Amino acid sequence: MDKMLITGGTPLYGEIVASGSKNASLPMMAASLLTSEPVMLHRVPKLQDVNTMCDLLKHLGVTVSDLKSGNLQFQASSLKTDTAPYDLVRKMRASFLVLGPLVTRFGHAKVSLPGGCAIGTRPVDQHLKALSQLGAEITVDEGYVVATASNGLTGSNICMDVVTVTGTQNTLLAAVLARGSTRIENAACEPEVVSLATMLNDMGARIRGAGTRTIEIEGVDKLGGISTQVPTDRIEVGTYLVAAFATQGKIVIKDAPSGELQTVIEKLEEAGASIDVSGDAIQIDGTKRRPQSINVETEVYPGVPTDLQAQFMVLNTISAGESRITENIFENRFMHVQELVRLGAKVRLNGPSEAIIEGVDKLRSAPVMATDLRASSSLVIAGLIAEGQTTINRIYHLDRGYEDLDQKLTSLGATLSRVS
Ligand code: UD1
Repeated sequence: MDKMLITGGTPLYGEIVASGSKNASLPMMAASLLTSEPVMLHRVPKLQDVNTMCDLLKHLGVTVSDLKSGNLQFQASSLKTDTAPYDLVRKMRASFLVLGPLVTRFGHAKVSLPGGCAIGTRPVDQHLKALSQLGAEITVDEGYVVATASNGLTGSNICMDVVTVTGTQNTLLAAVLARGSTRIENAACEPEVVSLATMLNDMGARIRGAGTRTIEIEGVDKLGGISTQVPTDRIEVGTYLVAAFATQGKIVIKDAPSGELQTVIEKLEEAGASIDVSGDAIQIDGTKRRPQSINVETEVYPGVPTDLQAQFMVLNTISAGESRITENIFENRFMHVQELVRLGAKVRLNGPSEAIIEGVDKLRSAPVMATDLRASSSLVIAGLIAEGQTTINRIYHLDRGYEDLDQKLTSLGATLSRVS
């Protein structure tokens, strides 16, 4: 298993270009199951999670052509099976997004219950509730969800009990070809829901209200092919902004979706960073200034994303003053705390969803262990600011979600390498 060695203490300087979004591309790839015509996606990031989704789609019978440079073409003219096996689904929770399209295409699907990052129990009850309201009969058998809708799915009024991003996406994927109209109340408003809905509409679906709490879908008979671009990754951009400020550096990120990062930008400014947005470029300047501690609470969009919680925590560990981080989305997302403490951070947990951080002058290097994707990126930021050489074990998590991370950081002046 690879480890990453990072020698900290160098401020990040320079310019990078944001990559395509992992969380947007995965549902867009799953949408290719809904048409027999070609679906061409541009700016798909080179990531392990994308490879996993490609493997799953190929297993189902989709022809996947890698046209290089982030251009992938999918064609689901004839599917081979309606079963998504454990070995593929356990690697990534987003694999569960094939459930909706498979029931739609076959009237029957068998999809393993998902794995993914170890951040809480992460049930899929809302996905299943929505599908059953669309007329599917659902059973769970030996770790597999079996969904049957022999006469097809029928539109319905669905009210989600919790706001769920992939739950909303799975419901959209199932409802676009259902008979009649569907209304999703308490839908997720995240940009990755909007990009999926936009893509589906461009394929011929009739969806209104994506990006708001209520989404209305008028079922259509058929969807066509499409050629479209994956939006840029707001979480990747947020991660680099925090990394630049934490190292007291100055960077420009091009192709950055600043509108989607408004709350994040405001938080960084509250901590003392100078941020300048110009067109699609964001510049952050944190040179020669120690950040001020800030309280951060994760919220559904447009609040601070849970996927940036660990990164903000690292920033607070070396900021002036005391701060609180409250995690409102997942119940077990503080696994990075113990690792940060090993680097000299002063963090204590106050119950399952609150961490209290007392800023210290410096972090000091130590061997640490990556536990999930975003926790890993927080450890990388910690390594970039810690004195000495930090070793991060189980770095494979990073390759699930950050395209060209090593190259991008190296181009910004970081000193890092990988060893087996
Ligand atoms: C997606 C993102 C992930 C991000 C998360 C929250 C992808 C591939 N992943 O994950 O990076 O951290 O949104 O923004 O897009 N829940 C239920 N029942 C369900 C579904 C969810 O109780 O059926 C709960 C979860 O346990 C969690 C909360 O709802 O507490 C939000 O989870 P959800 O939005 O579904 O996260 P994901 O879609 O898995």
